[in-house]
Amino acid sequence: MERVRIGLIGAGIMGTYGHFPGYMEIPTKAQVVAVCDKNPKAVQNIVEKSGAKGYSSFEDLLGDPSVDAVDICLPHNLHGPVALAALSAGKHVIVEKPFTIDLMQADQVIAEAKARKLKLMAAENMRFIKAYQVAKQLVDSDVIGDICYVRGYTGGPNDDSSDPSNWRIRAAESGGGTMMDDGIHCFYLFRWFVGDVKSVYAVTTKYRKNSISEVEDNAVGTLKFSNGALGIFGFSTTTASPWTEEFQLFGTKGSIFVDFLASNALRVFSTVRRSNDKSLWWGRYGDVSWEYPFVEHSTTEWVTSSMRREVQHFVDCILYDKEPLVTGEDGKRALELCLKAYESARLGKEVSLS
Ligand SMILES: NC(=O)c1ccc[n+]([C@@H]2O[C@H](COP(=O)([O-])OP(=O)(O)OC[C@H]3O[C@@H](n4cnc5c(N)ncnc54)[C@H](O)[C@@H]3O)[C@@H](O)[C@H]2O)c1
Repeated sequence: MERVRIGLIGAGIMGTYGHFPGYMEIPTKAQVVAVCDKNPKAVQNIVEKSGAKGYSSFEDLLGDPSVDAVDICLPHNLHGPVALAALSAGKHVIVEKPFTIDLMQADQVIAEAKARKLKLMAAENMRFIKAYQVAKQLVDSDVIGDICYVRGYTGGPNDDSSDPSNWRIRAAESGGGTMMDDGIHCFYLFRWFVGDVKSVYAVTTKYRKNSISEVEDNAVGTLKFSNGALGIFGFSTTTASPWTEEFQLFGTKGSIFVDFLASNALRVFSTVRRSNDKSLWWGRYGDVSWEYPFVEHSTTEWVTSSMRREVQHFVDCILYDKEPLVTGEDGKRALELCLKAYESARLGKEVSLS
């Protein structure tokens, strides 16, 4: 295959502004040949920009033999069924987070991809954000030792909770509120950085009392990892800060802070590392050196460039027969932790993972 022919399913915010430009940047490797959305204006916009064929039904797009791979940017409840139908139709699949909202569906999707030897990627853009990539390299090279404690936070205002047309506030379509929509990123990161989670305890609430939303807008919780580390998380869509993500890793030899809103998105404190580049030194406290390694950092890098790199990686996986950096299994594990956190919140007690 010289060029991957993409069918974009879901041309809302993420499909149009996150994923579509990523394909348009690599015209020698990928071409968006088809687009589907139930909103005709959204379809028309992509058709005009790319010359793709427009569809209003995903079943019709999946029947199009000119499509090699589909990119699913739909409401959460459609991820599993559309991914499964796409794989059954012989298409490679990249699917936005959460991978599915149901573990059985996740298993079916993974099994179908395996049986048909098709590429399946969970679109988890955290993996393509430079600050997290550098943080992971530092963790893997033992700059902070064994991680004993980790903290993840996502938060910011969400003004759509009073809009009845917003699928995110309907539980059957979203599968949950801020924990499913935003927290799922942290649930992916926890496992990537620290390892498997043994148990979770979570509390959720609908802080906006007059909201018509069926789902939580705040969630907090604690984690026990299989390796003995502890974790803590908080997700909120009622705070007045700009949208932000914070991820802090505390280890036996140092700590790493990733912070979306800080001018230094990555801060490293280590007892065992001192960069040769003195411009990176910020200070010393006892045995601990402070460093602020440069990582490309802007809202654009965080929100859009990482998504472009993500879909371009998917194209490379198809062209060069590589395993995606974020697999269906990774997507399923993040979902499993999220669903267990909801179970814990419902039961009011700590819940174990299998
Ligand atoms: N990685 C991230 O940081 C990030 C950020 C935002 C959204 N997302 C994910 O992207 C996905 C889409 O979110 P969004 O913000 O673009 O939502 P959106 O509402 O803007 O877009 C969804 C689109 O799907 C279309 N649609 C709904 N049902 C359909 C159907 N049956 N057939 C065809 N089209 C249908 C809608 O018309 C809409 O255009 C979600 O999974 C979301 O979690 C990820």
